[in-house]
Amino acid sequence: MKIMVIYDSLFGNTEKIAYSITDSLVPSGNVRTFRVSHIRPDQLIGLDLLIVGSPTRAFRPTIEITGFLNKIPSTGLKGIKVVAFDTRLSNGADKKAVFTNIFTRQFGYASKPIADKLVEKGGILVVSSKGFVVKDIEGPLKAGEIERAADWAKTIVEKIKVSNE
Ligand SMILES: Cc1cc2nc3c(=O)[nH]c(=O)nc-3n(C[C@H](O)[C@H](O)[C@H](O)COP(=O)(O)O)c2cc1C
Repeated sequence: MKIMVIYDSLFGNTEKIAYSITDSLVPSGNVRTFRVSHIRPDQLIGLDLLIVGSPTRAFRPTIEITGFLNKIPSTGLKGIKVVAFDTRLSNGADKKAVFTNIFTRQFGYASKPIADKLVEKGGILVVSSKGFVVKDIEGPLKAGEIERAADWAKTIVEKIKVSNE
């Protein structure tokens, strides 16, 4: 299985999740992982599985991820299985978080627009998108998130195996 993981990351947390997913997928195929600035849309041809992740910035993916996804031709992901993830702040209970939560409930996180765009370009969404929590804007990741990402990656492969049977 030809797999590509594409991510963006300002402070390194999404990158850690991307590489945890990558390590977990190595036994399942040929996995290549790129920061979004190091890959072009024409390099997606021939993939079996594409995984895209971004930090949530103002409820959206980064400009670089959005720009990359927009550049994929309209049927560029036809037949390719796709999955999206993001990193995000947790919904804490402090006053600032309560304020943020009102907006987050309405506007959400980066993985939803990523998944929508991947599907719009012809991709087949394999599993629901996943968010991984950072404790503060620059991180670190909440305890256990690296392991949760690795486990989640295994569920993607399992789902593909079942759908191929
Ligand atoms: C300008 C800015 C906007 C952000 N907006 C959100 C947001 O809307 N929702 C959220 O949960 N986290 C938000 N965050 C926190 C980021 O999600 C967090 O910095 C990111 O997950 C860290 O990932 P990285 O280390 O890969 O850059 C924001 C952070 C910055 C700097």
